[in-house]
Amino acid sequence: MRSEDTPLIRLEDYRPSDWLIDTVDLDISLHPTKTRIRSQLGLRPNPAGRPGAPLVLDGDELKLVALRLDGLLIDETAYSASPQQLTLHAPPARRFTLMIDTEVDPSANTKLMGLYLSSHVYCTQCEADGFRRISYFLDRPDVMSVYTVRLEAKKLIAPVLLSNGNLVAAGDVPGGERHFAVWHDPHPKPAYLFALVGGALDVLRQTYVTAEGRSVDLAVYVEPGKADRAGWAMDCLVRCMRWDERVFGRNYDLDVFNVVAVSDFNMGAMENKGLNIFNDKYVLADPLTATDGDYASIEAIIAHEYFHNWTGNRITCRDWFQLCLKEGLTVFRDQEFSADERSRAVKRIADVRTLRTTQFSEDAGPLAHPVRPRAYKEINNFYTPTVYEKGAEVIRMLKLLVGEAAFRAGMDLYFERCDGTAATIEDFLACFAETSGRDLTHFARWYEQAGTPTIVASGRYDAAARSYTLDLAQKTAPTPGQPEKQPVVLPVALGLVGRSGDLPLATDSPAYAGAGLIVLDQPSLSVTFSDVGEPPIPSLLRGFSAPVRLELDLADGDLLRLFSSDSDPFNRWQAWQTVAMRALVEAGREPAQLEALRATGRALAEGLSDFLRDQAPADPAFAAQVLRLPAMGDVAREIGRDVDPDAIQAAHRALSTEIGLRLGPQLLELREKLGGSAPYSPDAASAGRRALRNEALGLIALASPQEGARLCEAQFAAGDNLTDRLAALAAMTLVPGEAREALIARFAKTYAAEPLVLDKWLMAQALIPEASTLDRVRELMQHPAFSMGNPNRIRALIGGFAANLTQFNRTDGTGYAFVAEMVIALDRTNPQVASRLLSSFKSWRMLEPGRRTLAQGRLAQVAATPNLSRDVADIAERTLA
Ligand code: PHE
Ligand code: ZN
Repeated sequence: MRSEDTPLIRLEDYRPSDWLIDTVDLDISLHPTKTRIRSQLGLRPNPAGRPGAPLVLDGDELKLVALRLDGLLIDETAYSASPQQLTLHAPPARRFTLMIDTEVDPSANTKLMGLYLSSHVYCTQCEADGFRRISYFLDRPDVMSVYTVRLEAKKLIAPVLLSNGNLVAAGDVPGGERHFAVWHDPHPKPAYLFALVGGALDVLRQTYVTAEGRSVDLAVYVEPGKADRAGWAMDCLVRCMRWDERVFGRNYDLDVFNVVAVSDFNMGAMENKGLNIFNDKYVLADPLTATDGDYASIEAIIAHEYFHNWTGNRITCRDWFQLCLKEGLTVFRDQEFSADERSRAVKRIADVRTLRTTQFSEDAGPLAHPVRPRAYKEINNFYTPTVYEKGAEVIRMLKLLVGEAAFRAGMDLYFERCDGTAATIEDFLACFAETSGRDLTHFARWYEQAGTPTIVASGRYDAAARSYTLDLAQKTAPTPGQPEKQPVVLPVALGLVGRSGDLPLATDSPAYAGAGLIVLDQPSLSVTFSDVGEPPIPSLLRGFSAPVRLELDLADGDLLRLFSSDSDPFNRWQAWQTVAMRALVEAGREPAQLEALRATGRALAEGLSDFLRDQAPADPAFAAQVLRLPAMGDVAREIGRDVDPDAIQAAHRALSTEIGLRLGPQLLELREKLGGSAPYSPDAASAGRRALRNEALGLIALASPQEGARLCEAQFAAGDNLTDRLAALAAMTLVPGEAREALIARFAKTYAAEPLVLDKWLMAQALIPEASTLDRVRELMQHPAFSMGNPNRIRALIGGFAANLTQFNRTDGTGYAFVAEMVIALDRTNPQVASRLLSSFKSWRMLEPGRRTLAQGRLAQVAATPNLSRDVADIAERTLA
């Protein structure tokens, strides 16, 4: 179907389903190419629907085998069936059961939506609309049913048979070759939360007793032989279950909680009720095959999926426009969990980095959309950083505005009032309006308006009056479909920093909410603080209190003072980033500024030197974040137009090199001091030490390549963990030469049997900022470690290349051509992975004219390809618009 012909689905067109399905009884006989599904639906007219309406069930590439109504065959004229739809023209206006037999071929399902085989394991993925690839259904989240599922399979092939809820029966099928299991989930759920798994899997088990006293059998299922890599995931699961009891008062509600790791998965993981299915890269961990970053991601994602049990499953979404209702809120919850388990400041810095590189860039380009979109052609294209990460920022702001107590009370009210329902953002916000006594209508604009607001701030000190006035204004650039922007509600957490710390804040301004918080909800306002005894330095947006850009013209000296003495750790980090960003933007805009940049580098190194000596050893994780310069993509966005990626890369490298040169001996010393011989432990403090050592290694490698190469080789050889080994490889990739190629080869040999580790190896090479990288990537596509059938491999190698700022954006256009070619090829097998890859083009409009034209040409080529999937057609069309 051409994208122009695809219907646009609109929020305002929502109407309740004409029919409801109270019960679903599935009988599924698993077979690699001919899986039989018998589905019995307990239907009734929806009192809120249109009386006498036909029953229109969704399908997708389905084959109808048989159909019965209340046990009787139906006359052929009474229904029509196609692969995409099953319609009963005049169903009885009462309760009835419909029995639908379908047959599917899991081995041919390369889209990884619906029922598919992943390395010999049967599994399902039904969000957002995969269930309709298994059986005809009212595949919409506001149709919630109680499921009973009987699974049958060959014992040898699938000794493990899992579905949602609790196991109620199991046994052998006469004949002895096959066996069955029956699962019942008492909690009504939408079809997108249905799941099954069948395969030969190993398992790690543990018992958990909830605060309410329910005993729960926890299990983590993994590929045979890998159970010893499931321990960390289990540990995370137990910790996040306790945390949700303590912090949100939420207990688990079934006797079983299963987590299954599969190796072919389009996304990170899926919160199916009682049966979370994971991309194995977010489950498997041991020191030799997972990095500190992996351990942290596993912790976050295990928690995220578990937290969905309440925010997503018990309370689900009325329609897909409300996706942020479950996703933004659940990301907020997992971020808070990680913050409590680790360093809150470092977690916040890491999250803001991600927000800026992924969400701000989305919001600044053609794919910008509101946290709650108004219309879509393909919902799979809206699982975005805006819905997830900006959605979480909105919750964070809500909490800041209504305060800790009203926030918790609002959450309690939400859980109580909306439990068992398919809810909306309005339902959610109403709870907080009630517990806080506030009108949240204006705040709700965050859900409607796309784009990253900019706060323009300036301050004036009046020595005679001993007062300090802060002028704040907000503006948001137009985004597709939204030419005019309205002011939003911006919580600005702040402090006024004096010579010996924060000054007391006294003002009678109505915009001041107390406790260091100004609420900017108008185009502009001024707040005057009195009794200010000295000219202060404003520290604005503490903790990154709102997802905005800040324009505040502080002198470098003032920023450096904030860096050394702000009481807010986030803003200490931010002050440093701002200084570095300024230098990078100048040099990135005007390549001739490289000399000036080196001078800035020297000045920065001086500032860093004291910090490294006095403060870094006490908080290495924080120090590592300081040493890492702003991402190149962020620099590009700051420059905003006519961007030359090579100039940004050169500036980045020059600044890092200069810092490395100036601080060389000190960095070496620091590495010595931090390097312990203690065995690997994934805890945050140990990870922080490794992070700092490895940031230092990167700088050393740039400044003195030979010494760097020596250190990298030694670190690789000595490493008892993947974190240090991969850091050695990454640092070495910046230094062309034989030593690099030798280390690359050695790495591949060491990890030949570890696909997930080789993904990192593929990606490290795809990211090399050199002209030969494209050839290297093409060659790596022939390597046995690569496969076009596996999303993780594709994201590592091809996605890695598309994220390579200078090489994707090659001046000869071959980078764009390559990615476009891959998108078109992939679209035939896996449209979701293809469309994500295509969104790498989202920043094309900010490039200088030569590259812009080339990128546009390749986008047009993709758009003009016949028989595109809806996923890819939609992204191509919107990116070009
Ligand atoms: N709902 C999943 C999550 O956020 C993400 C997902 C979406 C997975 C669609 C698969 C398909 O946890
Ligand atoms: Zn989620």
